[in-house]
Amino acid sequence: MTEKIRVMIPEEEVDSKIEELGKRISQDFAGQEVHLICILKGSVFFVCELAKRITVPVTLDFMQVSSYGAETKSSGVVKLSKDLDEPLSGKNVIIVEDIIDSGRTLSHLVRLLGQRNPKTMTLCTLLDKPSRRVTEVDVKYTGFQIPDEFVVGYGLDYDQRYRNLPYIGVIEFEN
Ligand code: IMP
Ligand code: MG
Repeated sequence: MTEKIRVMIPEEEVDSKIEELGKRISQDFAGQEVHLICILKGSVFFVCELAKRITVPVTLDFMQVSSYGAETKSSGVVKLSKDLDEPLSGKNVIIVEDIIDSGRTLSHLVRLLGQRNPKTMTLCTLLDKPSRRVTEVDVKYTGFQIPDEFVVGYGLDYDQRYRNLPYIGVIEFEN
């Protein structure tokens, strides 16, 4: 079986959307600081581009959770494999995700990190597949709503590959 990538969202569109999100965040938090939580590994590319476009002071921290293996369907099990380095107390926390699918990962993280006393906690995702939602999550900053297709690129992987594509693509399997 061979894999082919069809472009869903070209690089320029992704970049201008991230710029727009950066502007909104900068306006919403004018005069304050934001603490971006990057959910490894998928959100790395997004968080770097986003952070560069935020004009209020930014701090960054990283955590790793996993709910997918080499499969294209969520297992529903969220495993915490790397915790944050810094406390969240008194901070304007923004959890930055690559994509929301079932919503299980984010709703788990909101519960977990909400217990650490942040001043505010908001969610930001580059992509959202609303039709796949199992658990309700309140996302303030969404880049693109996309249909139920398995996407790669801009940090998103299929079996750890394709993260480095500078656009969002759909993976298609051919015999
Ligand atoms: P959720 O817990 O079902 O919302 O899953 C979220 C996680 O599943 C994301 O952070 C991704 O790592 C992964 N994921 C969901 N959909 C896709 C996709 O289309 N391509 C690549 N990874 C995906
Ligand atoms: Mg992810």
